Formats: sequence, C-alpha cells, structure tokens
Amino acid sequence: MSGARLPEGPVNQVTDRASTVHRGTGAPVGRCVPRGARARCSATTVEGMELIDALRTTGAVRQYRDAAVPDETVYRVLDTARFAPNGGNRQAWRVILVKDPSLRRAMRDIYLPGWYEYLAQVAAGLTPWAVVTDRELEHRSVAGAPAIAQAAAVGPGGFAEHLDEVPVMLVLLADFAKLATVDRDADHYTLVGGASVYPFAWSILLAARTEGLAGVMTTMVVRDEAAVKELLGVPDTVTVAGVLALGQPVHQPTRLRREPVEAFATIDRFDGTPLAAP
Ligand SMILES: Cc1cc2nc3c(=O)[nH]c(=O)nc-3n(C[C@H](O)[C@H](O)[C@H](O)COP(=O)(O)O)c2cc1C
Repeated sequence: MSGARLPEGPVNQVTDRASTVHRGTGAPVGRCVPRGARARCSATTVEGMELIDALRTTGAVRQYRDAAVPDETVYRVLDTARFAPNGGNRQAWRVILVKDPSLRRAMRDIYLPGWYEYLAQVAAGLTPWAVVTDRELEHRSVAGAPAIAQAAAVGPGGFAEHLDEVPVMLVLLADFAKLATVDRDADHYTLVGGASVYPFAWSILLAARTEGLAGVMTTMVVRDEAAVKELLGVPDTVTVAGVLALGQPVHQPTRLRREPVEAFATIDRFDGTPLAAP
C-alpha cells in the first residue's frame, strides 16, 4: 500500500545495478536513457548477471513509498513489456491504467470478498480454488470469510484493504478474438489462453525494476469479473486477466523461496529420474 507515513529511503538498488558494467566485457549494461516518451536502452546481455539477478529476485512487492509514478514511466514499462512472447504474435493484451479515485475504490471493493475467501481457504489448509481440491472443505471454509472480513475491517488493513492507494493500478485484459487457445475444446480446465498474456504481465514486473519500481500481479478481482467489466466498460469478447500494482518498493525482496529443480524436473517420464545438479 502507499502510505503518507512510510519512511524515505535509498532509491531501489536495481536502478544502480542496471548501470554497472558487464563482468566479462566491461561494457555498460542495462542502462535506460529516457528520450521523450520512449526509453533508449542498451540491452543487458544474455550472459549478463543483471538479467539472472532480476529473474531470481523479482518477488511480489505489496508495500510502496508514497511517491507518484508519472504516466511516462508507465509508458516506458509497457513499451518494453510489449515484446513479451504470445501465441501467434496476436498480442491479445489490453491494459487499463486506472487513475480515477472512485474507480480505484470500486476495484478494491471488488477485490476484497475474493481475498477473504482466499484467506479462509488458506486457513483450512487448501490451495484456494485449485482445480483438484476438496470441494466440500472449500465450501465450508469459504463460509468463514465474512468473519475474516469483519476482523479486517477494524484493523489497519494491508495491501488488499488499501488497493485503491497503490501508485499504479493496471487492469490486464485479454481479447478472446485474438487468443490462440489450442486447448479451447478440452474437457478439463484450460490453461493455454493465459499463457498469451501472463508473460506480458511478468515482463511488466521485470521492466518496472529498471525504473526503480516493483509490484505484484493479482487475479482476485476475476472472482467478480462481470463487476470489473461493467465498471470499466469492457466489451463481452474481452476478459479480465488480473490487476497489476506498481510503485517504489519499501523493500525489494532478494531471497525468494522456491522448490529446487530436482523437485519438479524429471528425465523422459513424469516419474523419471529427477534432473539433478551436475
Ligand atoms: C497468476 C498469479 C495470481 C496472483 N494473484 C494474487 C492476488 O490476487 N493477490 C496477491 O496479493 N498476490 C497475488 N499473486 C502474487 C503471488 O502471491 C506471489 O507471486 C507468490 O506468492 C510468490 O511471491 P514471491 O515472488 O514474493 O515469493 C499472484 C501471482 C500470480 C502469478
């Protein structure tokens, strides 16, 4: 959340790191020089450690300094993110930069019920809304969401309760007429459509770091997608993929918790030998 009382501190390290020299060549890497509305960037080389650092440390950031982010900065972030991979290069994404305070409050109000249902399911030990889950337990746990909402209403609130205050609110949409969904007719839950917009979301989060920003991808408002579409005038053939929040981070995470490669990669078969470190 952005809050007036948050301490001022040093500017995000990534901006500094992006202007250091490449270890191998000694050449400057990753420096972006704003020129008019567009950034001119010297590319961070594939072998550059800066890229690896960014991929390993771009965690979810939900607390921001109380500092506005100019539209031209958001433009530069999107100008880089638009090179994300996507099915057939149809670029099905659309973005709405939500600035109007009343729309932002409405977005927060759409977000909150799903958030409390999420918390209730986590408290019950569930992976919220998993395709494969205990539906009976899910149903019972979600019944506890109003009590969680009541408790939250008397507290200081966190990211969810202050969603309307984030420095940048981007609603991410996908145009169904442009999504190449090869699994569209499958008789199970489909994934492939999302793969044409979520790499774009990830590129937004990565590109934001070169601007000294950080943020988080959220999907909670999709629980009430119809309300979002009505609020923002989104056509029937376009779907809501999520909301990204961005701002100057209070803290940039450096150590993310993830399973090791051996836990998810196998050779030749699903039950094959784990791919081990050399
Ligand atoms: C598809 C997707 C949906 C997410 N939805 C939400 C959300 O609705 N609210 C939220 O606070 N974080 C959301 N997140 C952020 C995740 O909670 C976060 O990426 C995850 O916990 C890993 O955090 P870390 O990178 O800081 O370790 C979402 C992330 C993704 C990729």
